[in-house]
Amino acid sequence: MATKKLSENIYSVGVLNPGLRVFDIIMESPYGTSYNAYLITGKKNVLIDTVHLEFFEEYLENIQAIVNISEIDYLIMNHTEPDHSGSIAKLLELNPKIEIFCTMAAKKYITAIANQEFRFHVVKSGEILDLGDRSLQFIVAPLLHWPDSMFTWDETSGCVFTCDFLGTHFCEPTLLDTNLHYRDKYLEQVRHYYECIFGPFKPYVLSGLDKIKDLPIKMVCPSHGPCLVSGIQELQNLYREWSTPEECKRKKIAILYASAYGCTTQLAQAAYEELSADSDVDVSMIDIVFAPFDETVAAANEADALLIGSCTINRDAPKIVWDVLSSIDAINARSKPAGAFGAYGWSGEAVPMMRSRLEHLKYSFVGEGIRSNFTPTQEDLAKMKEYARSMAEQISK
Ligand code: FEO
Repeated sequence: MATKKLSENIYSVGVLNPGLRVFDIIMESPYGTSYNAYLITGKKNVLIDTVHLEFFEEYLENIQAIVNISEIDYLIMNHTEPDHSGSIAKLLELNPKIEIFCTMAAKKYITAIANQEFRFHVVKSGEILDLGDRSLQFIVAPLLHWPDSMFTWDETSGCVFTCDFLGTHFCEPTLLDTNLHYRDKYLEQVRHYYECIFGPFKPYVLSGLDKIKDLPIKMVCPSHGPCLVSGIQELQNLYREWSTPEECKRKKIAILYASAYGCTTQLAQAAYEELSADSDVDVSMIDIVFAPFDETVAAANEADALLIGSCTINRDAPKIVWDVLSSIDAINARSKPAGAFGAYGWSGEAVPMMRSRLEHLKYSFVGEGIRSNFTPTQEDLAKMKEYARSMAEQISK
């Protein structure tokens, strides 16, 4: 992407990556992405964020189309994941006098990522950097989505630089949301990006939105996807809606199961019957082999308590069970009650293996789990009901 002027003395110097289809090895990005970075020129020349190391040469070329690298005074790092910090070492090799402005956590991460020391200025929230002809304000906004994150506000232009926040993996060559041809696809990706990156940090999203809500913003300059001009309020509203908890919601229990011959299904049904009789909880029962995967994971993450059942095949739970267990939002699983159950033929490893995974996710595992050898007996089913009941009691406390 060539350098683009966004406002008086503010330039985009980032790069496009239209061919990317999987971001961070976990996130589908069907419309590519961009690694945005910005240059503010004037009495002091300031870079905001760098780019993925793979694109350093293009980034450098973009900067040098406006100013020589030796004339850069400051580098502001709003967040330090390597897609934004990857080029710091190379950049500062060319101009070691550049001073990096960032949070304390960001300083720690940059030092460990580059394995070298730089000139740092650790900012406080609200601190102002006077550039002589404009001033920049730092708004510390942690856990959006790392502990290091902050926003940078430029009152002169009305631009707020938010790094990942309010961004999208959507490669728009003009870098402006006013030029989007496929707005519906873009908004789909806004949602996908929010769920993957900010879904685990909803209270912090609300706090971040509150920190910028009264600013007279003319442009939101994120680190991925188009800058927001027409969508400034729309995206903030969407983030707020998606992050606001449902009021007075009833407690939810999700029963997820995979069954080869119906024996584990019988245990799941026994739990469902028991819990459905409780008018204080909403219970969902999902066959994870046949249900849409995203719905299964969403049900697990939204539940206040999780019961997961699996048969054992060749001394393990089947792959679909691990796929679900590896997709759970570990940030918000802590202390929620969880249990495991399953029928087996030979040895029944699935239940203790699922227990181990749930405990590593920091769920509060209930009891030992329930296992039945082949077809559950009436006694097995009664134990399953009792087990489910004890989980319901935990979330009603
Ligand atoms: Fe785009 Fe959290 O890095």
